[in-house]
Amino acid sequence: QTLFVLNGPNLNMLGQREPGIYGSLTLKDIENLCHSKASELGISVDFRQTNHEGQLVDWIQEAGLTAKGLVINPAAYTHTSVALQDAIRAVGLPVIEVHLSNIHARESFRHTSFVSPVALAVLCGLGANGYPMAIEALANHLDQGDA
Ligand code: DQA
Repeated sequence: QTLFVLNGPNLNMLGQREPGIYGSLTLKDIENLCHSKASELGISVDFRQTNHEGQLVDWIQEAGLTAKGLVINPAAYTHTSVALQDAIRAVGLPVIEVHLSNIHARESFRHTSFVSPVALAVLCGLGANGYPMAIEALANHLDQGDA
């Protein structure tokens, strides 16, 4: 089975972007963590990043046709995007929302997520480790047949 792992705006800059908040790993490092976890679990992961909201919508729709579940770090679109919420509702896939930082411990504009109401679970504040944890949790969820 395949899971999509989607990343939103500015996450291509990880490693150099506010390392005190987001850590020093690059997105490529995080992708590698995801592929290692996937091979450990005997599944595959399609890992992508875009700075464009509509591209995320297109990929969520594509995931609905080809994937079993979705891990998404919507980055800043978390806090603004009705379109992402609608796309997730439309495809009906299990989704785990991931953030590197604890968004609830930061500025108040980060405390609201348009994605959380349609997510199976939310992992935030665990840094890059949140990604492989989300993959494992999603795989377990799918194995239990309660997707
Ligand atoms: C983020 C948190 C968001 O508030 C922020 O806009 C990001 C990254 C995180 O992973 O901690 O770009 O999603």
